[in-house]
Amino acid sequence: MNQPSKKASVIVIFGATGDLAKRKLFPSLYNLYCKGELEEDFAVVGVARRKLSNEEFRSRVHDAVIDTACMDKDDKHKQFSDHFFYQPFDVTKSESYQDLKALTESLDTEFNIPGNRIFYMAMAPEFFGTIALNLDAEGLIEGDGWNRLVIEKPFGHNFSSAQKLNDEIRQVFSEDEIYRIDHYLGKEMVQNIEAIRFANALFEPLWNNRYISNIQITSSETVGVENRGGYYEKSGALRDMVQNHMLQMVSLLAMEPPASLSTEEIRSEKVKVLRALRAVIPEEVSKYFVRGQYDAGEVNGTHLQGYREEENVDEASNTETFVGAKLMIDNFRWAGVPFYIRTGKRMTSKSTKIVIEFKDMPMNLYKEQSGKLGPNLLVIHIQPEEGMTLHLNAKDTGDMRKTTPIQLNFNNKQENYINSPEAYERLLHDVMRGDATNFTRWDEVALSWKFIDPISIAWANEKEPTFPNYASGLMGPQASDDLLEKDGFHWWPLPENK
Ligand code: BG6
Repeated sequence: MNQPSKKASVIVIFGATGDLAKRKLFPSLYNLYCKGELEEDFAVVGVARRKLSNEEFRSRVHDAVIDTACMDKDDKHKQFSDHFFYQPFDVTKSESYQDLKALTESLDTEFNIPGNRIFYMAMAPEFFGTIALNLDAEGLIEGDGWNRLVIEKPFGHNFSSAQKLNDEIRQVFSEDEIYRIDHYLGKEMVQNIEAIRFANALFEPLWNNRYISNIQITSSETVGVENRGGYYEKSGALRDMVQNHMLQMVSLLAMEPPASLSTEEIRSEKVKVLRALRAVIPEEVSKYFVRGQYDAGEVNGTHLQGYREEENVDEASNTETFVGAKLMIDNFRWAGVPFYIRTGKRMTSKSTKIVIEFKDMPMNLYKEQSGKLGPNLLVIHIQPEEGMTLHLNAKDTGDMRKTTPIQLNFNNKQENYINSPEAYERLLHDVMRGDATNFTRWDEVALSWKFIDPISIAWANEKEPTFPNYASGLMGPQASDDLLEKDGFHWWPLPENK
């Protein structure tokens, strides 16, 4: 027998018949396999309530990966499916765990795996704690190999529920065995923020309140709540996007340079940003936060219904589908620089962009001919384009006293010829390699909930928001524009690719 690879493991997916497994996990595993990142020493056990045979499960896996790039390699696909097994499972029943134990141990032998386990929680969060405790009680994590627990969001719905969940899983897994997923941290250009900042002498010296006037992060979606009304009614955009993805991007943009690129150095610097976030007291929520809910609208000639008409949504729902906010980071580097964020459903475009707006020149030599000089902007395109654009001013051809705006562009997808790997592919690979850098540590999760809680409480107590307040297809309610206008700024309406 060959030496097993470092990544050799049995991956147990709880919730293997769900949407996440189908849309993200199976295709990501398949891509890793095709690229040779996964050797033959792995097995995947899908568990879920319903009864399926291995064959039925494999056929679902097949359907899920049918559109992936290397699907034409038929043999590969057959070989790949042979690594998949299914077991019907009741999370509360001892027998389920015992059957799973027997199966995983037999897969160790079959695939030359030294007892390594990845437990991937891709199901309703209320079961995460129960499963972790039962895995321990039933002896599933006492083998010789390593154990890793991967947890999908939502990690709690406020600080106290997150703490309760964390206490439960920590009874069984140590912090360095826990991989809390924030899929934004797997995106190529989110990961690029650190390199842009810390590998360029051009940016880092300017990356502070002396030279930056404000930072804007927009993550907009065109879809509505789709079939997730039940979940979304309890979550809203604040819990769904701001507590995790948006605050993670803020941390990466605002952190100090880490002493090294080690997991703990990076995460420790990120957490300091969250500690320095100015807490918003309930009485001041409206000064810093605005919320919106989409109404019906006409987009490209199609009528779209309002949020309150969606399936599993209360017809008088006060759930926000849009959040705009001004965050202040009270430390030496960022005192006085607003970080504006906005995110929502049914907006104009599907796009995530970061705009760093630099301060104006101390004086404008070109006033007479050019009027006001546009500020320098650094735009980081997270998706769908991946790249960055630097907006500068240069001389107008033909008139030396006049300027014209120019742009320097970098397009990551063009540069790398093929699409960069999907976030989940990277993150799954990181779990297998034991690299937790792009996963959230407990203190980050705790601090972000502590920041968010007063806002959700204030909104829950404010009985009658004037909802709906933006038509489908718009960039949120008017209040979002007003938030910046009060400070003398505006959202940068950047055309695509700019
Ligand atoms: C998820 C949210 O975390 O992120 C969804 O639950 C949202 O509501 C999604 O649609 C957005 O992710 P992406 O990668 O499409 O920007």
